[in-house]
Amino acid sequence: MKNFKRTLITSALPYANGPVHIGHLAGVYVPADIYARYLRLKGEEVAFIGGSDEHGVPITLKAKKEGITPQDVVDKYHGMIKDSFEKFGISFDVYSRTSSKIHHETASEIFKTLYDKGAFTEQTSEQFYDEEAKQFLADRYITGTCPKCNYEKAYGDQCESCGSTLNATDLIDPKSVLSGNKPVMKETTHWFLPLDQYEPWLREWILESHKEWKPNVYGQCKSWIDGGLNPRAVTRDLDWGVPVPIPEAVGKVLYVWFDAPIGYISNTKVLCEDQPEKYGSWEKWWKDSETRMLHFIGKDNIVFHCIIFPVILKAEGTYNLPDNVPANEFLNLEGDKISTSRNWAVWLHEYLEAFPGKEDVLKYTLTANAPETKDNDFTWKDFQTRNNSELVAILGNFVNRALILTDKNYNGEVPVLGELTEYDSNALLEIGNLKVETEKALDTFHFREALRLAMEMARLGNKYLADMEPWKVVKTDPERVKTILNVALQITANLTIVFEPFLPFSMNKLRGMMNLTKFDWSELGRTDLIGAGHKINTPELLFEKIEDDVIQAQVDKLQATKKANELELSTAKPAKDNIEYEDFAKMDIRIGTIIAAEKVAKTKKLLKLTIDTGIDQRTVVSGIAEYFEPEKIIGQQVSILVNLAPKTLKGIESQGMILMAENPVGSLVFVAPVSKIKDGSEVK
Ligand code: MF3
Ligand code: ZN
Repeated sequence: MKNFKRTLITSALPYANGPVHIGHLAGVYVPADIYARYLRLKGEEVAFIGGSDEHGVPITLKAKKEGITPQDVVDKYHGMIKDSFEKFGISFDVYSRTSSKIHHETASEIFKTLYDKGAFTEQTSEQFYDEEAKQFLADRYITGTCPKCNYEKAYGDQCESCGSTLNATDLIDPKSVLSGNKPVMKETTHWFLPLDQYEPWLREWILESHKEWKPNVYGQCKSWIDGGLNPRAVTRDLDWGVPVPIPEAVGKVLYVWFDAPIGYISNTKVLCEDQPEKYGSWEKWWKDSETRMLHFIGKDNIVFHCIIFPVILKAEGTYNLPDNVPANEFLNLEGDKISTSRNWAVWLHEYLEAFPGKEDVLKYTLTANAPETKDNDFTWKDFQTRNNSELVAILGNFVNRALILTDKNYNGEVPVLGELTEYDSNALLEIGNLKVETEKALDTFHFREALRLAMEMARLGNKYLADMEPWKVVKTDPERVKTILNVALQITANLTIVFEPFLPFSMNKLRGMMNLTKFDWSELGRTDLIGAGHKINTPELLFEKIEDDVIQAQVDKLQATKKANELELSTAKPAKDNIEYEDFAKMDIRIGTIIAAEKVAKTKKLLKLTIDTGIDQRTVVSGIAEYFEPEKIIGQQVSILVNLAPKTLKGIESQGMILMAENPVGSLVFVAPVSKIKDGSEVK
């Protein structure tokens, strides 16, 4: 590793077209935050850069759909995302945005520099165009029927029903979302970054010089490079974004993936302008060879951060390149891919509302289960188990016992350390070993492993107390208990350090209870962190159990989402074969009223209904019990087939059948007149 004096940590700028969810957190922000906190705890110079990505097609579509401007959309979500991150304790040094003036200037300048150097190539090609809206159409602006599954609302880049990736030209019956018209093909000119020309350099820089990158990152880069790199358009025909700063390109903007990573630079400028004494000049962070740059991102961003953005920086010529890009894989939710459009997610702002004060619990779960080497699954059950059996039962339990015993037996004063047994010494020695291992894991971005090792330290404390049984020894050898508790409190003080990058709110609380100020990372492993006679405060519980009903409520919420989505994506069944009118006319359908209803004993689905048909009162057995409670449907008018041959079900003779409408996911509603009509009226 090269020598460096400071670290610039960037985290992917989330699109400001929706709130952030646990997938974003697990993949990017939680690991970046852990690392930033760890470096700061070591006394290193750090700038942790965040911000919103406010350009791109999805934002313009969202604006159109809601009848507001793109700026309104990003204002809303930028505010919301920033607020959630703040509450959740992601410790950005700056959180800015790409619709800002300084960003537009920075991105324009870099484009202009590259343009002037002749770094781009120019190409003219045919694109879909809406003649009525007078606009070229991005893939998302075209919908049509999916050639693979016939879903009618597929987009020009993807079908959300069957998940296929599509080309806009594949769609059957393509339509512009702007006018609903069929688009035409029209010529347009764009500027391209000739990635192919950089292939030898990329091979050398990544494949030869960065073999230490995570296998998933290195592997993806290798397969892109081996697959052959093509020139990539860096301009778009769109009216939302950074205008292309050359006269030939009026009405065009920079491609969102050209300007977004430059947002890291603009946001660093914001930071350094706001706090020059603390952070110095922005150039120091971007151009000084003693600054190390790290990009924290999810796997869908690898090519942009390892290939495209470095090529931009390289072409510009005066900037540093990233030293590492510790990208993560994806987090799934209860077995399914997280999806914003299908609302299949746990949204951060909703979590913060449902679980106030439990920011660290989510951080813990997402780190313990982080998708570092492969996709992983978040389940509410696992979240509950991690909280109840790890945070509460191990860390919380140990700390609580150590503090309560001190409070009760010594009035909150740390007792003196007597002679150490071999067991005591070994326990204290083990803390030093765990420190070394935890550091190794953190330095190589293995946060899961680092957290596991931190939890090992808590387990060690827990086991120490369980084995030493001070609550028993106190009756026979009170002097010995002093030593046991002193050791337990040294372990506790060490825990406030080792867990600080992972559980900052809880460690702040724990330090409060112990009446301690923050230690440096370098002090981790010391066995005299807390002196005899030091007074601790009254202990409280560090974590609390999460009950089943709370978890069930979250699971139910997801179930409801799933049902709604299935319905949204389902298509109507095709029609049955034709029949003659005479066949239909054989049916005698009347309007009737339900006058009594009860469950049929020992069945789940059946209700016994008494219906006034206007002709008579009769009994109908109907399979609707899962959808309607008997008391609630008395008085409901229904359509009833009165000349259906009677049939005995569960010993009850059913005289007719009521008509129900069933949607594709199986929900039922009555087929009834829209206004009340006399019972016995015919349906024909
Ligand atoms: N908005 C992009 C996404 O959510 C990430 C942009 S990262 C940036 O996938 F650095 F390029 F901004
Ligand atoms: Zn499809």
